[in-house]
Amino acid sequence: MFNIILFGPPGSGKGTQSEKLISKYQLKHLSTGDLLRSEIAAKTPLGMEAKGFMDKGQLVPDEVVIGMISSALEANPAAKGFLFDGFPRTEAQSEALDKLLQLKKTEIGVMLALEVTEEELVKRLLNRGLTSGRSDDTNEEVIRARIAEYETKTAVVADYYKKFDKVVAVKGEGTVEEIFGNLCSEIGKRMS
Ligand code: AP5
Ligand code: MG
Repeated sequence: MFNIILFGPPGSGKGTQSEKLISKYQLKHLSTGDLLRSEIAAKTPLGMEAKGFMDKGQLVPDEVVIGMISSALEANPAAKGFLFDGFPRTEAQSEALDKLLQLKKTEIGVMLALEVTEEELVKRLLNRGLTSGRSDDTNEEVIRARIAEYETKTAVVADYYKKFDKVVAVKGEGTVEEIFGNLCSEIGKRMS
């Protein structure tokens, strides 16, 4: 089993690259953002609670996302590996993930960290907001709030995995294919 964390700020290309990586490596994609948006679409109590935070660009409480990931891991006992996208986003989430993976007798193989400048992030997200229907993409204030949450609460998650020598930084600007090629070459080095 080989598990990957695809890490990076909002708009760095995690979702775009995840689609390509899961197909190449046959991994189960676990995106907490996608899971939360499904809960909102289904108007569940969890979704309704999460929506208030997401619309403001703030992180949803740890217990909520950890519970969702725990259920998703249990629901996929036959997976060859997991690709975590947008999770973990706090140190508490990282510690919880390590424990959940230990129970499955597995661990994180590598954290790939996409690096993109703030101006490029804002440009990409405003552009996507024209068509995505995502309420958190429509105005620059919320986009900047998401980036600020990333800087104050999430960036430290990379330091957590650096202690275990699991972090590889990858340039997240360029064509989607170029970035995918670089991610695959890093995965290749760690898988063998
Ligand atoms: P989430 O859904 O995870 O969103 P995000 O991290 O803000 O990032 P995005 O999904 O917007 O960007 P991405 O990195 O996936 O980039 P993408 O490929 O889409 O989280 C949303 C909210 O949910 C959070 O704010 C929080 O409230 C909550 N949440 C989720 N997980 C949580 C957690 N663990 N804990 C607490 N709260 C949580 O690309 C972006 C755009 O750029 C697209 O239009 C794409 O086409 C374009 N693009 C991609 N690659 C390139 C390229 N190489 N060149 C040019 N454009 C590109
Ligand atoms: Mg995404």
